[in-house]
Amino acid sequence: MRYSKIVGTGGYLPPTVFTNADWEKRVDTSDAWIVERTGIRSRHIAGPDESASSMAAIAANAALEQAQCVAKDIQMVIVATGTPDKIFPATACLVQKKLQIPPCIAFDVQAACSGFVYALSIADQYIKSGAVSRALVIGSELMSRLIDWNDRNTCILFGDGAGAVVLEASETPGILSTHLYADGNYDELLYVDNVQLGDHSGVIPGVAANENFNIPLNKLHPYIQMQGQKVFKLAVSKQGELVHEIQEKHHISSEQIDWLVPHQANERIIKATADKLGFSMEKVICTVATHSNTSSASIPLALNVGVRDGRIKKGQTILLEAIGGGLTWGSALIKY
Ligand code: UT7
Repeated sequence: MRYSKIVGTGGYLPPTVFTNADWEKRVDTSDAWIVERTGIRSRHIAGPDESASSMAAIAANAALEQAQCVAKDIQMVIVATGTPDKIFPATACLVQKKLQIPPCIAFDVQAACSGFVYALSIADQYIKSGAVSRALVIGSELMSRLIDWNDRNTCILFGDGAGAVVLEASETPGILSTHLYADGNYDELLYVDNVQLGDHSGVIPGVAANENFNIPLNKLHPYIQMQGQKVFKLAVSKQGELVHEIQEKHHISSEQIDWLVPHQANERIIKATADKLGFSMEKVICTVATHSNTSSASIPLALNVGVRDGRIKKGQTILLEAIGGGLTWGSALIKY
């Protein structure tokens, strides 16, 4: 049986750290509120010259180095991002160029905070089918460019960064299974409008001027809009369902799972998910305090932290879980 296996991880966090005290100076908030409601203490903010592709390339290089492979070994690049450098080409193509990876499959995945789990699942299918032998799977986000810096409800929650893994064909497991879901009926709970598409003023050929599809800019929200409490409740319930689905499919008890690496949005959501699994927080890789919510980068960044500080060891069983805009949600059970 052919599996795909993670053979290298890498991460990148921009050097500028923005603390809760820094937010106190900008909006009506407090360190005490942010820590109590979210567990976040600081976040990294990208500089003006950084982009999703520049951060992704640094994280990917670190993963390649750990995997002991070079650019020409890679046959597929997937970047999960909601903050691409450009509408097109895909950020994956820009990463391919930066790393000088020869012609291969390269594309972006947009599944908000679940993006990395989606991308991992796609790469896993390609490797299992025999179509490719080695893939770079990356989550990279510039959330600081998507927040309204004056909206205390959302601005304090997010940060920037990138995480990457090298996925390689293997005769031993490997990714054991992935489970992906989306329900577009929840689209209004968490979204950012595409201002660019609402801003065109040209008449579409063949369409009468009075039937023009222009959407006035002032009706669009170029920054993150979130109904926090509703998302919170769905995050806890959907992530609980994912845990049970994995346990039933693999007849695996909580004791047989060594690490939970969840999406890092809110420490209270992570604790509630750990509780459902019967996990103590000692078995959870939790980076939300210093990374905050980096959307699709949060899981590969946390995974990289756990691997590099020696907590996650070869042969251990790891559960990844995410939920985000869409709504999208998903999980992956991995033998590391
Ligand atoms: O990554 C994708 C998935 N995203 C998530 O999973 C996020 C899910 N949601 C959450 O994590 C939480 O809902 C938040 C952290 C966003 C908010 O926490 P909450 O406990 O649900 O607070 P709330 O929205 O119910 O607000 C409670 C109060 C409100 O004041 P009133 O109306 O009670 O007077 C807010 O205006 O807290 C106020 N508030 C703040 N106060 C100080 C909201 N933001 C702030 C703030 N500082 N930054």
